[in-house]
Amino acid sequence: MKITRYLGLAALAGVLASASVASAQTAIKVGYPLPNASHYGAGADAFAAELAKTTGGRYKVEQFPASALGGEREMIESVQLGTLDAVLTSSGPVSNFVPDVAVTDIPFLFRDTAHARAVLDGPIGEELLAKFPPKGLIALAWGEQGFRHLTNGKRAIAAPEDMKGLKVRTMENQVHMLAFRTLGANPTPMAWPEVIQGLQQGTIDGQENPISVIVSAKMSEVQKHLTLTRHVFSPALVIFSKQRWDGLNDADKAAFKAAGKAAAAAMRRFVDEVETKGVETLKGQGMQVVTSVDTAKFQTVLAPAYAEYAKRFGQERIDRIRNYK
Ligand code: PAF
Repeated sequence: MKITRYLGLAALAGVLASASVASAQTAIKVGYPLPNASHYGAGADAFAAELAKTTGGRYKVEQFPASALGGEREMIESVQLGTLDAVLTSSGPVSNFVPDVAVTDIPFLFRDTAHARAVLDGPIGEELLAKFPPKGLIALAWGEQGFRHLTNGKRAIAAPEDMKGLKVRTMENQVHMLAFRTLGANPTPMAWPEVIQGLQQGTIDGQENPISVIVSAKMSEVQKHLTLTRHVFSPALVIFSKQRWDGLNDADKAAFKAAGKAAAAAMRRFVDEVETKGVETLKGQGMQVVTSVDTAKFQTVLAPAYAEYAKRFGQERIDRIRNYK
């Protein structure tokens, strides 16, 4: 009898203890543009796991995948306002908030993935992250999507002249728009949540994104042609609300920073994996793939755009990135 009563009290104590843990948990809302089965989902899961580990479960990450809270630009605005705690986003629309980030969007700036990672993880990347707090944002780490490639529903693109008049959806990013205009295409800036419908309805002919996105977004269902242009590296960022950040103690700030780095590392692992088999997957789904282009030819056509970038960012800054070892 006594034992039964004791067990009853112990069970009650357990219920009360878990209820108090639950009520002591602070919700952290994290939004991102693609489904959970993507490099963003991998990043958000790693963010949640790292945070749970370092803070003993005091924070509960609630994920809002697949643009549930709007396009990337809208989510960044919400983080700025403090109505969303964090966003995993491509760098594309970030330059509308932190203009210096746009230097990373210059076409054919990075030699390869190792070069891009070295730049973003080194002093240049840190200097760019330091530009966020005055804009009401905390950039925790650089994640990534991979190199961007062109898809379209009209024709195989092998050279810049094939792009003439093609209506290509770009991100809301001036550097990208100038590049596509200079290449002879008709760049159409559009928020990501409208892109698939735009392709289906023919308001745009094509779009450009890395293999990680082309696979996760099931682009083969709406686009026939893929050209591996590698025209621009697509960094991603883990961005946190400054309002929320300012209320954290130093230990929790360190925990969120570590969670941001874990998210970025998980994104990179996912991208590495999808890059090895993604093109074969897309071919299997019926996409026709031009596997390489003459990069030098694209760079020659882009000469007037490069002159504009030099005016905007300064040739020295561009060369510092280009020549970084
Ligand atoms: O093209 C874009 O807008 C971005 O690359 C995407 C697909 C939203 C992922 O960040």
